[in-house]
Amino acid sequence: MPPISGPADGPVAVTGASGYIGSHVVKNLVEHGYTVRATVRDATREDKTSYLLAMNGKGEGSVEIIACDLFKAHEGEYDDVFKGCSAVFHVAADLGTDPAYGERDPQRTFDGCMTATKGVLDSCAKAGTVKRVVYTSSSAAVMGLGPGGKGGGGYEYQDDDWAGAGPYETIEDRWTVTHRKTGEPRKLWLLERQAYAMGKVEAEQYAYAFAEKNDFDVCSVCPCHVLGPLMAKAHNTTWQKRIGQMLMGETGHEGRRHSLWNIIDVRDIAESQRLMAESDVAKNRSRYLLTATDESGELTVQELVDTMRDLFPDINVAGGYEPEDCLDEPHAKCTKAIRELGLKTHSVRDTLKATGDSLINLGAIQPAMK
Ligand SMILES: NC(=O)c1ccc[n+]([C@@H]2O[C@H](COP(=O)([O-])OP(=O)(O)OC[C@H]3O[C@@H](n4cnc5c(N)ncnc54)[C@H](OP(=O)(O)O)[C@@H]3O)[C@@H](O)[C@H]2O)c1
Repeated sequence: MPPISGPADGPVAVTGASGYIGSHVVKNLVEHGYTVRATVRDATREDKTSYLLAMNGKGEGSVEIIACDLFKAHEGEYDDVFKGCSAVFHVAADLGTDPAYGERDPQRTFDGCMTATKGVLDSCAKAGTVKRVVYTSSSAAVMGLGPGGKGGGGYEYQDDDWAGAGPYETIEDRWTVTHRKTGEPRKLWLLERQAYAMGKVEAEQYAYAFAEKNDFDVCSVCPCHVLGPLMAKAHNTTWQKRIGQMLMGETGHEGRRHSLWNIIDVRDIAESQRLMAESDVAKNRSRYLLTATDESGELTVQELVDTMRDLFPDINVAGGYEPEDCLDEPHAKCTKAIRELGLKTHSVRDTLKATGDSLINLGAIQPAMK
C-alpha cells in the first residue's frame, strides 16, 4: 500500500492518546497539520486530557478527544472513531501505570496487547480508509526472554530479532521454557514481564498477517528505555519515575537487576511514528528498534548517575549512591529508523535534562537540593 500523503488524506486516530508516549504522538501530528482523533480511557479525567485540548489553536492541526475502552475493542468500540481515517497510531496498552485502574496483572497485560490489538485492527479494516497502522510494540518483543532469546556477550540486537523466536508448534510451546536449575517447565505468560513480551510479539505478528489480508500496512516501533519531557504529572511512571527518584536523592534503582540504560527520546518516538505513516520506504512488517542513537545512549548505571549529577549540579542526585557493576546489555541502536525514515534524534543529555526539568516544573517531584 502507498503511504498516507499527509493531512489532506483525512483525519488520523491515536489510541492511548493521554499516555506519556501517546500525548507526544498527538502533539507531533497536530504540529504537522493533522486532524487527530485522540482516544482516551476516560474523557472526564482533566488531569489526562487538558494537555491534549491545549494543543488546539497552536498550529494547523487539531485534536478531538473520544473515550474508548481498549478492553471493548473486540466489540467494535473503535469502529466509529476510525471511520474516514487514513492512519491509526495504536499506542495504548494496559501497563498498570495508573493505580486508579488496579494492579497490573499478567493476563490483563497480555489481553491489553493481544486481544485488544485484534479488535483495533478489525475496526481499521471495517473503516476501509485506513492505509497505515503504526503499532507501538516494545523492545521486549525483540529482546524479551524466551526460547531462542539472544543477549549478553555484547550482542547487538537487530530490528528483525524476535523474543521467543525458537521453533514451536503451539503458542504455549513457544512460551514454555525449562527452568535452568530445577528443570521444571516455566509458563512465561504467568510472569508479568514475559506476559508483556509475549503480548507484544503475538500482537505484532498477528497484525502483520491480518494487514496482508486486509489491504493496509502495519509498521511497528520497538522502543527501549523511553525518556524525555513529560506533559503531565500523571506521566511520572515507568523509566521517567526512576529519573525523578534520583533527583529526589533516592537511588532509583532498588530491586532492579542492573543492566544498561538504552535510552530513546519520547519526541523521537513520536516523530518516527509520523514518518512511518508518511514513508514510502516503510511497508507492512517494517519494524524499527527505537533505542540509543549510538554508544552515548547506552549508559551503565554509574554513567547515568554521573551524567545526571553533571546536568543538575545543584541537586543531590541519587544521594551518595555509588552503583554496583552492571550487565553489559542490552545493546541496540536505532540506525534503521535514522537511515530509512530520516529520523533525527535528540542527544541523550538533552533527553535527560528535559526529563528532569519537566518533572520539576510540573511539580511531579521535589528535588533534593544541595
Ligand atoms: N515507556 C516505555 O519505556 C515504553 C517502552 C516500550 C514500549 N512502550 C509502549 O508504549 C505504549 C505507551 O506506553 P507509555 O509509556 O506511554 O505508557 P502510558 O502512559 O501508561 O500509556 C498507556 C496508554 O494506554 C491507555 N490505556 C490503558 N488501558 C486502557 C484501556 N482499558 N482503555 C483505553 N486506554 C487504555 C492509557 O490510558 P490512561 O491514560 O487512561 O491510563 C494510556 O493512555 C505502550 O504500548 C507500551 O507498551 C513503552
